[in-house]
Amino acid sequence: MAKDKALTAKSSIGAWLKHPVGGPILRDLLAQGGQKESALAPVKLFSLERVAAMSGGQMSQELIDDMVRRANDPSALAAAPAADDDGEDDEDEPPAPPMAAPWVERITPGRFDGKTVIVTGAGSGIGRAVAARVAAEGGKVVAVDISQERLDAAVAEMPGAVAVAGDITSEDSIAKIVAAADGRVDGLANVAGIMDDMTPLHEVSDAVWSRVMAVNVEGTFRLTRAVLPLMLEAGGGSIVNVASEAGLRGSAAGLAYTTSKHAVVGLTKSTSFMYAAKNIRVNAVAPGPVATGIEASFASELGQERVGLAMTILPPIAEAAQLAASITWLLSDDATNVSGVILPSDGGWSAI
Ligand SMILES: NC(=O)c1ccc[n+]([C@@H]2O[C@H](COP(=O)([O-])OP(=O)(O)OC[C@H]3O[C@@H](n4cnc5c(N)ncnc54)[C@H](O)[C@@H]3O)[C@@H](O)[C@H]2O)c1
Repeated sequence: MAKDKALTAKSSIGAWLKHPVGGPILRDLLAQGGQKESALAPVKLFSLERVAAMSGGQMSQELIDDMVRRANDPSALAAAPAADDDGEDDEDEPPAPPMAAPWVERITPGRFDGKTVIVTGAGSGIGRAVAARVAAEGGKVVAVDISQERLDAAVAEMPGAVAVAGDITSEDSIAKIVAAADGRVDGLANVAGIMDDMTPLHEVSDAVWSRVMAVNVEGTFRLTRAVLPLMLEAGGGSIVNVASEAGLRGSAAGLAYTTSKHAVVGLTKSTSFMYAAKNIRVNAVAPGPVATGIEASFASELGQERVGLAMTILPPIAEAAQLAASITWLLSDDATNVSGVILPSDGGWSAI
C-alpha cells in the first residue's frame, strides 16, 4: 500500500483499516465504544461518510473532519510503521462503491387513519422509525420505551403520539401502556429488545440469560397477553413481533439472544394459529443488520471467533426506516391475507 495515499471521507472503511495512521485512529474509536474491528466487517466496502450517515448522529461531521486531518498528518505518516501487514497488494483493492441512490421512504397518507398502534422500543432505532411512520400515516401512536429521555426526543417528532415510559417486563408498565391506548388497540408492534454478549452456552451468565429472555420474550408475551382481549372485543387487530436473523439461524448472536429470538418465532406462530379465526393477524419481521442504537458486546473469545465467521458474510447494514417499511406493511391492512409469517428483512441474508 502506498504509505502516502491520502485518506478522505470517501475512502472505504477497508482502506481506512489498512492505512498505517487511519487504521489505528479507527480502531481507537471502535475501542472507545467497546467494539472490535470485526464489527465493521459488513461495512468494509462502504465509505467512511456513508457509515457516518448511518450512525444516527454518533459520528459527527466534526469527528470525520478530524479523523481525515489526523490520518493525513505528514508527521504521523512519517512515524507510522510500514503499512499493510497482510501482504496483500492494495492497488487491487476495489474502490469504495459510490453511494447508491438512497432508498427514499414514501409515506402512504391515511394508511393508519383512525387506528391506534402501540409501538415498543419507540425511543430508538427500529421502534422509533415504526412509530414515526405510523404517526405520519395518520395513526394514533402509543410510544413505549424504558428510557424517558429517548422517548421524549422521539415523540417530539410524532404528531399526536402518547408517550409511556416503562419496562415491558413489568406488569405495572403493561397496565400503563394498555390504559394509554384508551380501550382500543388496532395494531401492536413489539419492537423493544436487547442484544446479548455473544457468549456460547457454557459461558452465559445468569444476568445475561435472565435479562435477554425477560425483555425479548417475556416482555413481548406480557404486553401481547394484555392487548389481545381488546382486539378480541373489537373483532380484529394486527400484531407484528420483531425477531431477528438470530431467530432463523444459530450463527448470528450468542446463546441467550438466539434462544430468545427463536422463542419470538414460536410465540408468533402459535398466536397466529390460535387467533386466525378471530381476524387477528400475527407476524414477525426478522431483521438483518440495522444501524440503530442497539449494543452488542463480545464477552467470549469462542463467541467472537464463531460469530465473527458469520459476520464476514453479512449483507450491508440497513437503515431503521427500511425495517419500518416492512413492519408497517405487516401492521397495515395491505397485509390483509398474511398471518403466521416470519418475514426476513435482511437484504437477502437468509437466502445464503
Ligand atoms: N439493529 C439490528 O441490527 C437488529 C437486528 C435484528 C433484530 N433487531 C431487533 O430489533 C429490535 C429493535 O432494536 P434496535 O436495533 O432498534 O435497538 P435500539 O437499542 O436502537 O432500540 C431498542 C429500544 O428498546 C428499548 N427497550 C429496551 N428494553 C426495554 C424494555 N424492557 N422496555 C421498554 N423498552 C425497552 C430501548 O430503550 C431502546 O430505545 C430488537 O428487538 C432487536 O433485537 C435489531
